Amino acid sequence: MERVGFIGIGLMGRHMAGHILNGGYPLTVWNRTKEKADALLAAGAAWAESPRAVAQNSDVVITMLTNAEASDAVICGENGVLEGAREKTVIIDMGSIAPEMSRSIAQRTEARGGFMLDAPVTGSPKVAEAGKLGIMVGGPKGIFEASLPLFETMGSKMVYAGKNGMGTTLKLINKVVFHDFWFWDKFRFFQIMLRET
Ligand SMILES: NC(=O)c1ccc[n+]([C@@H]2O[C@H](COP(=O)([O-])OP(=O)(O)OC[C@H]3O[C@@H](n4cnc5c(N)ncnc54)[C@H](OP(=O)(O)O)[C@@H]3O)[C@@H](O)[C@H]2O)c1
Repeated sequence: MERVGFIGIGLMGRHMAGHILNGGYPLTVWNRTKEKADALLAAGAAWAESPRAVAQNSDVVITMLTNAEASDAVICGENGVLEGAREKTVIIDMGSIAPEMSRSIAQRTEARGGFMLDAPVTGSPKVAEAGKLGIMVGGPKGIFEASLPLFETMGSKMVYAGKNGMGTTLKLINKVVFHDFWFWDKFRFFQIMLRET
């Protein structure tokens, strides 16, 4: 089983990381405020001293942070995930960030020989606790497919939206147009539309 790293143990991330641990994945975590990781550490997760150290101990690193600036700093900044990543490390950013930043992080990840998926979610902390998030994914399709078992620990509906930045684009449309109401019935229309842009 891949070794998973999880960064961002907030209202959403703590449940998502808990499901990954319960799914049997070896889990290493880091959070800016360490105390928020206490329950996960008690449940068997390992602590790393920095995002860089998380990456050094993981095959897949998931980030669930507040915004684009936080994702940029934690993944690409000093002592960040990319500094600890190896060839073929997979970075999955699950925050709701601007598509331009998703694409920029993907480019910087690929420049170091890794892969990146933007995979924002729809649902509340309660939905995250139930493991029933909707997950919209942009990035290399083969990496999405290989990551499905991991996504299935956290979500009940996973959608491949296209290349990098399309997951966060779909999230933006869902939020702005539908106020985060999950529009599965209309999804095919948007999927086709996004592929055309
Ligand atoms: N809450 C929801 O209902 C919901 C639903 C769908 C999607 N989302 C999206 O999911 C993401 C996370 O939301 P959340 O509700 O879990 O937020 P949250 O509870 O505020 O957690 C945010 C996390 O980001 C970390 N963080 C923020 N800035 C950082 C920085 N500069 N460096 C390092 N760590 C930083 C925080 O660390 P600290 O613990 O140290 O503050 C915390 O772990 C957001 O993009 C949000 O839009 C949320």
